[in-house]
Amino acid sequence: MRSVHLVTLGGLLVSLTSAQSTFTPTRPPSLPLAVKSPYLSTWFRAGSNGGNGGYLPGEWPTFWTGQYIGWAGLIRVDGKAFTWMGAPRDVEAASQVAYEYTSTKSIFTIEADGKVSVKVTFLSPLTPNDFKRQSLIFSYMSVEVSSIDGSEHEVQLYTDISAEWASGDLSAVAQWDFGTTDDINYHKVWKQNQQHFSEVNDHAEWGSIYYSTDADDGLTYQSGADTDIRGAFAANGKLANSKDGNFRAINSNWPVFAYAVDLGSVGSAATWNLFSIGLCQDDAIQFLGADGLRNVPSLWKSYFSDDVAALTFFHKDFDESNKLSSELDSKIDSDSKAAAGDNYAILTTLAARQAFGATQLVGTEEKHYLFLKEISSNGNTQTVDVIYPASPIFYYTNPELVKLLLDPHFENQESGHYPNKYAIHDLGSHYPNATGHADGNDEPMPIEECGNNLIMVLAYAQRSGNNDYLKQHYPILKQWAEYLVEDSLYPAEQLSTDDFAGHLINQTNLALKGMIGIEAMSQISMLVGEDADAENYTSIAHDYIEKWQTLGINHDASPPHANLAYGNASTHGLLYNLYNDRLLNTNLVPQSVYDMQSAFYPTVRDTYGVPLDTRNRYWTKSDWQIFCAAIAGEEVRDAFIADVAKWVDLYNTNDGTYPPGIEFRARPVMGGMFALLVV
Ligand SMILES: *[C@@H]1O[C@H](CO)[C@@H](O)[C@H](O)[C@H]1NC(C)=O
Ligand SMILES: *[C@@H]1O[C@H](CO)[C@@H](O)[C@H](O)[C@H]1NC(C)=O
Ligand SMILES: *[C@@H]1O[C@H](CO)[C@@H](O)[C@H](O)[C@H]1NC(C)=O
Ligand SMILES: *[C@@H]1O[C@H](CO)[C@@H](O)[C@H](O)[C@H]1NC(C)=O
Repeated sequence: MRSVHLVTLGGLLVSLTSAQSTFTPTRPPSLPLAVKSPYLSTWFRAGSNGGNGGYLPGEWPTFWTGQYIGWAGLIRVDGKAFTWMGAPRDVEAASQVAYEYTSTKSIFTIEADGKVSVKVTFLSPLTPNDFKRQSLIFSYMSVEVSSIDGSEHEVQLYTDISAEWASGDLSAVAQWDFGTTDDINYHKVWKQNQQHFSEVNDHAEWGSIYYSTDADDGLTYQSGADTDIRGAFAANGKLANSKDGNFRAINSNWPVFAYAVDLGSVGSAATWNLFSIGLCQDDAIQFLGADGLRNVPSLWKSYFSDDVAALTFFHKDFDESNKLSSELDSKIDSDSKAAAGDNYAILTTLAARQAFGATQLVGTEEKHYLFLKEISSNGNTQTVDVIYPASPIFYYTNPELVKLLLDPHFENQESGHYPNKYAIHDLGSHYPNATGHADGNDEPMPIEECGNNLIMVLAYAQRSGNNDYLKQHYPILKQWAEYLVEDSLYPAEQLSTDDFAGHLINQTNLALKGMIGIEAMSQISMLVGEDADAENYTSIAHDYIEKWQTLGINHDASPPHANLAYGNASTHGLLYNLYNDRLLNTNLVPQSVYDMQSAFYPTVRDTYGVPLDTRNRYWTKSDWQIFCAAIAGEEVRDAFIADVAKWVDLYNTNDGTYPPGIEFRARPVMGGMFALLVV
């Protein structure tokens, strides 16, 4: 009999038995469960980030920050209860035998007592071309149960959520309700003191959480203290169909919201139950745009009259939603394998929910936006140099999403809400507030953000054919290009997107972004019929890139390579901005520079990959490595990809810790894993 024994060693849960579960295609540091927006972002930790190795029975899921979220699963087999999710007290954990992930699904196979199998599929649908579905902040959990020992067993299934879903403040008072609509039961949980647009520990402090299932025969429900309710199920296999009327703090006798289903006698044919979890907020974002400061509703509000209509649609839409998600799974899998093999598919597949999970569709059918939270660094809203590294997944899945990310920036800056002539860094210092920086005191990254905007807007127009968009924004695009003309040949002391590395003068890679930005402006000018500008900008860009090849490249080194900063022979770094020249087909930079970097990178490769730059030889970033891989020779490309894939699979690396300085926490920039698929 397989079983997982968990003990606490210095605060870490460690599995004592040898690993029994397979992990396919690999064991990521965090396994996505319900990951659909910055505020519906529930994971299961596997790695040195406090995880137990990736075994769903025996540890609690967490919010992306690592804060626990109560989500429990129990099964009662011939009168004996086992846990298949979470770590409820006094219930034996069942054994996980397999974990598998696709771009939209996490699938756990768990066995209870060698008698029944519980297959739990967490589906966070991705429908990038279907905004009605994509706008819903909901996720599915389906549970299939079957006998595996040739006998029939009396089985009851149980699941609950705690009020931890409704606030990041555990002492906050929660309120709840239970309802039935159209053959669906739902538990509704919310923070009693609704604080619009506020966060505690990165959780939303407004809106309601819904946990729903089909109102089948054999279903019972209950709300109440965690130990009481789980204990009642373990003892009786059913619940009292009653509500706890004592609204109280989340951590006061931990109220939970539970369902039990009597599956009756279960044989080898699987029974199937569906649960859905979601967050409904009427207003999603505060935005300083063309009409001044206003509250922007969640986009799903345009399609559904209220929360219950939204959850009903979502719950009943499983077949279609699952079909669309599975189509995307297959497309990402086959395109990735065709582009660069199995290792590459590991990365794109894992990145999909993570990148989309930092975003949410807001606004109305007539005027909608995609907002993005800079998760896990500082929580800024709509950070340009986070949208930029994430953008490959959006070009790949639906380029319109790039427009929806850029639109709020154009609106804010074209309405005179930003005083600087260069492009803004973000639209607000904390999500969900996109209240801008009317004082001009955002984190300044002038070349970085001017370059990023010009590059992204052209990449979007090339893929959508929407040249009107370029025309509409021509004046501000030209304003940003002018800044690049002034400052990108000899960049002043500036931050690049890698701001943790500090300011630096004459950054070779930053200058390159500026120059490709100028060439992008030339193409933009051409597309809107401004031929004189087109000619002027391309001649400036070519003049600059000629000089750059002397200023930024160490031709005497063996092998030669780009320096981190002009004229500093002892430095080097990932020249990831070269990627833009291929993304846009600008052909500004000679092939010899690509070949030179491909020959150079292997000479500075370390265990986990190529260092970001010489300021710290232990730091690197997976998004930039994949940008470099996308334009490197095949052998070097595969080496980059293998290193990033190895790092993702923590348990294949030496001690299972994160490389110093790097954390893999729900960062949207992982959308950059799709870089190979858009050049
Ligand atoms: C957003 O702004 C409101 C004021 O309009 C404030 O109460 C709230 O705390 C802000 N949210 C965050 C996450 O900073
Ligand atoms: C930037 O590089 C140029 C060319 O090498 C050099 O003349 C200039 O002094 C550098 N700027 C600074 C501030 O070091
Ligand atoms: C070309 O652009 C530069 C820099 O913006 C500007 O100073 C110059 O006047 C432009 N020349 C023409 C012919 O438009
Ligand atoms: C070259 O770069 C290194 C590392 O960034 C720095 O310590 C050194 O001062 C630089 N040398 C010059 C001449 O700028």
